[in-house]
Amino acid sequence: TVLQLIKSGVDDLVIIDNFSNSSKESISRVEKLVNKSISLLQGDIRDPNFMDQVMSKNIDTVIHFAGLKAVGESTQKPIDYYDNNVNGTLVLLAAMQKHNVKNIIFSSSATVYGNPKQLPITESTPTGGVTNPYGRSKLHIEEILQDVCSSDPEFKAISLRYFNPVGADKSGNIGEDPNGTPNNLMPYITQVAVGKLQQLTIFGDDYDTPDGTGVRDYIHVVDLADGHVAALKKIQTLDLGFTAINLGTGTGYSVLEMQKAFETMTGKSVQYQIGPRREGDIASCYAATDKANELLNWQAKLGLEDMCEDAWRWQEKNPVGYD
Ligand code: UFG
Repeated sequence: TVLQLIKSGVDDLVIIDNFSNSSKESISRVEKLVNKSISLLQGDIRDPNFMDQVMSKNIDTVIHFAGLKAVGESTQKPIDYYDNNVNGTLVLLAAMQKHNVKNIIFSSSATVYGNPKQLPITESTPTGGVTNPYGRSKLHIEEILQDVCSSDPEFKAISLRYFNPVGADKSGNIGEDPNGTPNNLMPYITQVAVGKLQQLTIFGDDYDTPDGTGVRDYIHVVDLADGHVAALKKIQTLDLGFTAINLGTGTGYSVLEMQKAFETMTGKSVQYQIGPRREGDIASCYAATDKANELLNWQAKLGLEDMCEDAWRWQEKNPVGYD
């Protein structure tokens, strides 16, 4: 998002990171891509003194990405998830309030819809029925943002509900570098293709979908980042307090379609076996994108070909990630 912001002409920004699950190298690489140095403050959003110091820097809008995000890990470490995600947001909001910072764009997730009763998922599809602490932390934060907006008519929050982000920047220099074995489909596929992992296990082929495997709305990360750029422009003139917006393409692909598309686009073979369903998974999930089109004048531009090619370029150039 920082790369896309700077490319769009927004370069008066500061990154806050505690580097608990990220690498400084990714920021150096963005600096090389834009040929500029980027302000960085290292610290934790749960630290009130640090956040006080950050918010005193004449901040206009916060884009809030600071969250733990692994579904499985969240069931093992719920307190860490609520502390980092929910408590961290409270500390951030208190510092924003103290320094009169009134705009926030929040990194939410389609997980807030639980197991949706109808598809495509619109923003008025009921939320709830979330099956894990990670997802519940996202939903709690959305509710907190709504309450803060109700309490202060000047406070504005856009909650961007991401569907399934995949791919990487076209340069192949920045991309996803998950800790340990990836949980998500695309990094798993690229690690099989590069020879780090032996084969993909497809979690169930008996879902009520065309080929029996799970269907998701995969969105290229560059499109997703551009959605934040569009939200940043919009929030200045927004006359709503809290608003939730889906960021997806509107098209669902099955796991088998993804595996085949990757092989076709990259020429690499991805061995797979069919395994049992993964607990907590739903059959299908894809977005209605009308609200993003209308409110943000945004729509995804990159297709499956770009998603596979760009994910692979990053993996091939960086077989061990940023290390
Ligand atoms: N899958 C496999 N094998 C794997 C990994 C995934 O078959 O090794 C399948 C899953 O069963 C699912 C699809 O690939 O059908 C996508 O799985 P991901 O783990 O990549 O993504 P999810 O849709 O499960 O998770 C995403 C986000 C989470 C969010 C969740 C629920 O990554 O942040 O949606 O909305 F919580």
